[in-house]
Amino acid sequence: MASTSQVVVPKTWNIRCSISSLIVLLAVVFVLGIFATTKESRRWLFDQKTQRNTDKYLLSRCNLFSGKWIYDEKNYPLYKEQHCSFMSLFNGVACERFNAIAMLERLRNKRLVFVGDSLTRNQWTSMVCLLESSIAPTLKSVTPKGSLTTFKINEYNASIDHYWAPYLVESTSDHPVHHHFSSEQILRVQAIEKHARHWTDADILVFDSYVWWRRPKFKVLWGSFESPSKTYKEVEMVHTLEMALKTWSNWLEINVNRSKTKIYFVSMSAIHGRGEEWGKNKGENCYNETEPILKEGYHGSESDPRIMQKVEAAIDKLKRRGLKVQMLNITQLSEYRKDAHTTIYRRQWEHLTKEELANPKTRADCIHWCIPGVPDIWNELLYAYIFHTYSPSSKQSQKSKIYESSNSEVHTR
Ligand SMILES: *[C@@H]1O[C@H](CO)[C@@H](O)[C@H](O)[C@H]1NC(C)=O
Ligand SMILES: *[C@@H]1O[C@H](CO)[C@@H](O)[C@H](O)[C@H]1NC(C)=O
Ligand SMILES: *[C@@H]1O[C@H](CO)[C@@H](O)[C@H](O)[C@H]1NC(C)=O
Ligand SMILES: *[C@@H]1O[C@H](CO)[C@@H](O)[C@H](O)[C@H]1NC(C)=O
Repeated sequence: MASTSQVVVPKTWNIRCSISSLIVLLAVVFVLGIFATTKESRRWLFDQKTQRNTDKYLLSRCNLFSGKWIYDEKNYPLYKEQHCSFMSLFNGVACERFNAIAMLERLRNKRLVFVGDSLTRNQWTSMVCLLESSIAPTLKSVTPKGSLTTFKINEYNASIDHYWAPYLVESTSDHPVHHHFSSEQILRVQAIEKHARHWTDADILVFDSYVWWRRPKFKVLWGSFESPSKTYKEVEMVHTLEMALKTWSNWLEINVNRSKTKIYFVSMSAIHGRGEEWGKNKGENCYNETEPILKEGYHGSESDPRIMQKVEAAIDKLKRRGLKVQMLNITQLSEYRKDAHTTIYRRQWEHLTKEELANPKTRADCIHWCIPGVPDIWNELLYAYIFHTYSPSSKQSQKSKIYESSNSEVHTR
């Protein structure tokens, strides 16, 4: 785990939120920020396609998930690097601008929990950044405790947590720091309670589980990890995933208080490791990319649609059983952003070889995202859903006025 002493921060960087635990936790992103900010300071705005002449309900008038990235320097970023432990790089917009104070009010006496893999952690970090610039430094704290990291805002009695569970169910990759992506992972597809008990009382649950599923097969264990007579079988990815999602669904169905908890699932985040797919030479990746992909509907071969199809099927089934899980479809908008990954500005967990150091593109991270950046848009979408239930039966609120004005703003750009 990173420690504060490893973070070299020039004095000129005015860092307001230097909560040591936050730095300990996110030192990686922090260091990255300094580089990334100096590297490139363009701001991109995600301009949603607005569907006119459709029905009168807020979100349905505006397709949150499709649109294009446009360059914008005036309105963004939503938080500045000196107001946050993280850096400024790219930005975007949902149909409605993120309002930190409104969000904090909404989260008063509530608990928002992001559950899943490192992309969820990316999104959690973004949410913390989006909110923390509006809070006095003494009124918040970050507490990592095993797989659960809690960002507590005392003034609002609100907490925004991240829970590390890359497969949702139990696995040998459950250690929040010491986990490796290898073929040796073992999954207990029927066991989720050890994780889930940490989010039983959440008011808003945001799940994501995608990158760790990108393997042809998994070792699946029946029985406990400790059992001396444990046996496991090799099972195809899709079947393993189906079993895990079944366990997850059953847990939700039994444990979630439907009148209290709102549930979201974030769709797969794009990966840009194969440069030849957007016209680079074979062997190149997102390293050195500075512009988004402009081809409408672009998607690379590294997104495995089977994974999301299984998630959608599980969500549909839950819906038929009376439990609503809202999908946050962030895939397409993320696919365009080959330029927004952390590339070499992220601490690598493995020791780097000489060859890797000599040739930085080989160790570029084309999975995770710079912050501010793409995950902010995911949170703006989440924000839009939290404020306006995506259903014709939802009440029209005074929010619609705000929406109208922000909407016309989008059009005049
Ligand atoms: C996600 O959005 C894209 C368009 O941006 C669309 O093509 C796709 O069908 C959507 N998927 C789901 C599950 O809604
Ligand atoms: C603080 O928030 C928690 C939920 O995170 C809630 O259970 C508790 O009742 C709240 N405390 C007060 C004093 O409202
Ligand atoms: C479910 O949540 C509602 C609203 O917070 C609360 O009034 C109710 O007591 C809860 N039900 C159970 C079984 O906890
Ligand atoms: C990355 O871009 C820089 C400056 O544009 C250039 O000097 C360098 O050779 C590029 N590296 C690779 C691996 O393309």
